[in-house]
Amino acid sequence: MIRVRLAPTGVFGRDHSWAVIESAAPAPRWRIREDPRALWVVVGDLRVRIGRDPCRIAFETPGGDRLAADTLSKGMSWDGAEVRCYKQLREGDHVFGLGERGGGLDKRGAVWLNWNHDAAEHEPWTDPLYQSHPFFFVLNNGTAYGIFFDNAHRSSFDMGKLAREYYSFGADGGELNYYIIPGPSPKDVLRRYGELVGTTPLPPSWALGYQQSRFSYSSAASVRRIARRLRAGRVPCDAIYLDIHYMDGFRCFTWNKQRFARPARLMRDLDKLGYRAVCIVDPGIRKEPGYRVYDEGLAGDHFCRNDGGAAYVGKVWPGETVFPDYTRSATRRWWGDVHRELVETGVAGIWNDMNEPADFTFSHGTVPMTVRHNNDGEPADHRACHNVYGMQMSRATFEGLRRMRPNERPFVLTRAGYAGVQRYAAVWTGDNLSSWEHLRMSIPMLLNMGLSGICFCGADVGGFRGRPSPELYARWLQLGVFYPLYRTHTAGGPQQDPAAFGGAHLRLNRRAVELRYRLSPYIYSQMRECEASGMPLLRPLLLEFPDHPEVHKCDDVFMFGDQLLVAPVVHEGAKTRTLTLPSGEWYAFEGGERYEGRREYEIRVGPATIPIFARAGAVIPMQDVLQHLDRRPPEQLTLRVFPGNGGGRYYNDDGVNYAYREGAFLLEEYGVARSARSLAVRLIRRTGHEEFGPRSYAVRFVGVPDAPARVLYDGKPIRPFAGTRGWRRADRGWRYDRRGRAVCITSRAWREGAVFDVQFRP
Ligand code: GLC
Repeated sequence: MIRVRLAPTGVFGRDHSWAVIESAAPAPRWRIREDPRALWVVVGDLRVRIGRDPCRIAFETPGGDRLAADTLSKGMSWDGAEVRCYKQLREGDHVFGLGERGGGLDKRGAVWLNWNHDAAEHEPWTDPLYQSHPFFFVLNNGTAYGIFFDNAHRSSFDMGKLAREYYSFGADGGELNYYIIPGPSPKDVLRRYGELVGTTPLPPSWALGYQQSRFSYSSAASVRRIARRLRAGRVPCDAIYLDIHYMDGFRCFTWNKQRFARPARLMRDLDKLGYRAVCIVDPGIRKEPGYRVYDEGLAGDHFCRNDGGAAYVGKVWPGETVFPDYTRSATRRWWGDVHRELVETGVAGIWNDMNEPADFTFSHGTVPMTVRHNNDGEPADHRACHNVYGMQMSRATFEGLRRMRPNERPFVLTRAGYAGVQRYAAVWTGDNLSSWEHLRMSIPMLLNMGLSGICFCGADVGGFRGRPSPELYARWLQLGVFYPLYRTHTAGGPQQDPAAFGGAHLRLNRRAVELRYRLSPYIYSQMRECEASGMPLLRPLLLEFPDHPEVHKCDDVFMFGDQLLVAPVVHEGAKTRTLTLPSGEWYAFEGGERYEGRREYEIRVGPATIPIFARAGAVIPMQDVLQHLDRRPPEQLTLRVFPGNGGGRYYNDDGVNYAYREGAFLLEEYGVARSARSLAVRLIRRTGHEEFGPRSYAVRFVGVPDAPARVLYDGKPIRPFAGTRGWRRADRGWRYDRRGRAVCITSRAWREGAVFDVQFRP
């Protein structure tokens, strides 16, 4: 990666970033070459050409491709405090990234703004939204490069709207400071971007379960009701959210004494039922002498000031409010510590909202630009700090939770953020509507966030404003199975949860949520990949098929991890679903039917159908349905194996702490091979500790049209079971499931290197 900084005055300002993390990697070796017309900086196999007059920068790959070349006419520019950079746009360039956005996946041809905004009634075309991610990549003919413009001021990206032949990015202040991130594949760009700004740390396993929220479950009794209703309906669920009504007069870090008389007891009871509680915390602190948080904040000089020097007073839910200055390290520390009571009460996760920050005083929705911030020691006004305010709030929260519970991974959810926010919090897409359009819109939006480094994200299932029909809600729950953050939330009105729509819908909804839990070993394994390599769980086809331009704009079909493809039903009353599969060979996830890639299919869908396809040779680790994600490893790990040559992996750890970073985990890697007469899966490698492994395995080869002749383990035949009785408990055995067209093997043990081999008659 190469960084470019421009100092129009000849003097560089402070070198400071909210996004970029310290790198442990040694600085690469580089050389400079000069000729009368240009300087060449050579780093590895990348060459940077810096034209002398005019000063123009371009990057050359070993193959001679010129990437991210400044336009000849403009290059870099400044005007007062404004800075801008212009780069050539080639025929066939497509632009992806830029974080939380409406519209389709390809961002070429429009202007995009970064200015965190409480976009309460947003539509698909509303821009900006709540988050700022000044990162994108350009994909052309399978080859990609990325740009990260590390500037937290209001910035804009004109991706070829003003002119077809160039794009530009700039900001109304701060430095022209950007990184060029070489590919060649989009995955390479994402991985490097992850090295630059950090990736999503593995969340506590419960946070990957289903979560239930509402504005608000406004009394302990209503919290208990929903907790019981879901368990009575056997709807798996891991978390229940408390929105602002748990507080006393919307004062953060207080409890309403009437409606939540004994919060610690409520937390204990929820825990017994297998739920964690997540509480909302807003930045707006009620201005009220005598209220502890206000008094402490004032004494510690923790609030943002207006230019007169007094604490700035705005308006949010509690009325007159002041705003902690999270850009000050002492304030972040204090804010983290203020959570102690919530933590001691037994609250598991913290939900940061309104942290753009939202302020109802002005029509522009945020605090005045004259508001002062500490800005990590170099005081600045709000223009410099607006876009990082929310991120620094969730950072303060995350770091506080880590200090108070060093042996637990924090769970923080945030609405606002800047590049790098993924290190601290999951993100949800704010106040959407209960409509089919918003259900559809959530897909490219979340895919795009994944392409911008935000792996742990979700949209409010069922829609926040309005009432979903039972059908819309059911389809949304089915889609939400694949949202990394799977949460129903609503602004009130009738109950909106899987058990709220009556008998037939309860069964339908339960099936969707159960699928999430059955897939949880796969999901957890893939989330570990997010942390390690920055690859999102929910990912667009272009990431897996960069050479396949027909699927690049596809925004209603997506990959779930690297093995599964999902074509959710997104239209009311749909009886069929049309989709084009990317190249290769595919298998229906449930029935195992075979499909050819690069062809269009119209498949019939019933109310419960979720069209999912697996790559040939995929291995999907699964487990039986649980009512909530347990800390213990699954009793039995089911590996669903699809015909072909391929493989898969299973990762597990204790789901709670950070010991996995010191080796307390289990990783199994499998290889699948197919020949004319056999289908085999090998445990290639087992690393780590068996205590995180299952007690037994169920290997299910799907898409097997005929009963096999025999099944071998480690070269020796294993016993067939005629019926289904006893086979699950046996030490080792197999049976053929004719209706499911699957060979099912159970085995207590599986030695590293050993193969399960299904052999057919010649
Ligand atoms: C904002 C949030 C929403 C929350 C509400 C009340 O609108 O986006 O999720 O329920 O505030 O706290």
